[in-house]
Amino acid sequence: MTFVAAAMPILGLPRLGSGPGRPVNSALTMDYRREYLRELFSATPGTMVSAYGWVKTRRDSKGLSFVQLNDGSCFQDLQVVVNAGVVDEATLKLITTGACVRFDGEIVASPAQGQAVELVAKGVEVFGAADPLAYPLQKKGATFEFLREIAHLRARGNTFGAVLRVRNEASWAIHKFFHERGFLHLHTPIITASDCEGAGAMFAVTPSLKTHGDRYALDTTDPKEDFFGKPAFLTVSGQLEAETVALAMTNVYTFGPTFRAENSHSSRHLAEFWMVEPEMAFCDIVGNMNLAEEFLKAILQHLLDHCAADLEFFNKRIEPELLATLSHVAESPFERISYTEAVDMLLASGESFEFPVFWGADLQSEHERWLTDTKIGRPVIVTDYPKAIKAFYMRQNEDGKTVRAMDVLAPRIGEIIGGSQREERLDVLERRIADMGLPREAYWWYLDLRRYGSAPHAGFGLGFERLLMYVTGMKNIRDVIPYHRAPGQADF
Ligand code: 4AD
Ligand code: MG
Repeated sequence: MTFVAAAMPILGLPRLGSGPGRPVNSALTMDYRREYLRELFSATPGTMVSAYGWVKTRRDSKGLSFVQLNDGSCFQDLQVVVNAGVVDEATLKLITTGACVRFDGEIVASPAQGQAVELVAKGVEVFGAADPLAYPLQKKGATFEFLREIAHLRARGNTFGAVLRVRNEASWAIHKFFHERGFLHLHTPIITASDCEGAGAMFAVTPSLKTHGDRYALDTTDPKEDFFGKPAFLTVSGQLEAETVALAMTNVYTFGPTFRAENSHSSRHLAEFWMVEPEMAFCDIVGNMNLAEEFLKAILQHLLDHCAADLEFFNKRIEPELLATLSHVAESPFERISYTEAVDMLLASGESFEFPVFWGADLQSEHERWLTDTKIGRPVIVTDYPKAIKAFYMRQNEDGKTVRAMDVLAPRIGEIIGGSQREERLDVLERRIADMGLPREAYWWYLDLRRYGSAPHAGFGLGFERLLMYVTGMKNIRDVIPYHRAPGQADF
């Protein structure tokens, strides 16, 4: 990236204000190809630059003004010094928290602590003022609950800006991880007719009532007359379709939105969340665990290497010891125990849990947290759950009671990954579908995979927002996704 150094005329937007000495160093046109603010920090003192962004704060002192400017490209704000007379009074009044501006000026070595350089303004253009009396993000220290109500503005704040940068980098790291290992990235459908998890917590998809006029009243609808000619839903997982392609292309993964109509108000559940789902042919439960562990560690390491400033902020303000924990987890082996061992540990713990512990009961969040936070102190992979509490597609063990399921539990979060080796034997799978009372016809194509060229295979699903909670230390899943969908919450 080169820095534009010559004085150039400003084309494009009309100017709201102009100060003496400008324009100094404006970009030729309104074009994305300009320096991001993060690049200005490494500019050599003496360089003339333009800095575009939104004002975090303005502080006036003895004829000078200090403006903190941020464009979202990095955690740190650029300090802009506006000397007396550089900007006329009326324009200066518009440079308030939330305003969008461009400063032209000279990068100089900064006398202030915590920043190598600052910008001495020679001119400014105000693109959009923000009335200080009305701007909702005026004060520091707004609660996360309040920020959820202004989700359309929260990316301007420190915390949510950091969340979005970490989210972006994690997403890239995931694609990079699989691409480097030869996995095929697959787009699985969002509208589906089958219930992957068999749990029935699905949203129905039907044309809007408006387009169908009075003929349509949801409870009298005949599904055969509906858009798809049968009931259709938003997918809860791309797994079943990923399996069909793994049994042709060997190693595949999906990374897409998934939907659950659970009426859960917990801090770990969303109605719309993103899931990463690898699926591998010729892979068993051990290979699956190995991949899950290698995958999580690689993502953590990537984020430690590429999001240092943001993670330091989370470490300081949100979750003490975050950095030390993530580095430790990235390097040490995960614990691997069976469900039966986990139940024995819980029974021997002497803790009084809200939900009773017995062989056959599903592990509740409090049990998962005890195992990871109290007993083991790092991520744990629990395998071989009772078949009665797991989905129909999991491979049955010889004991007739358990299946080759695996959940990866993370400290503070609980379940972060759920997966299994898949049942590849046609007769066993057909019996399981019948025993669970699932509609066999709906799964004809899934059963076909076991009819034609079946293979041992396995995969898992990582809840992307749960991973982000783990990595940032954020306590509520609603604060790690741009727009949260939860019961009663589909604003914006
Ligand atoms: O354990 P789950 O339900 O597994 C599946 O859906 C499998 N079909 C995945 C597979 O094997 N390909 O969900 C996987 C992960 C969970 O471990 C959790 O991290 C996350 O998805 N998850 C949720 N995240 C946010 N809100 C919810 N309501 C979630 N439900 C599951
Ligand atoms: Mg699960």
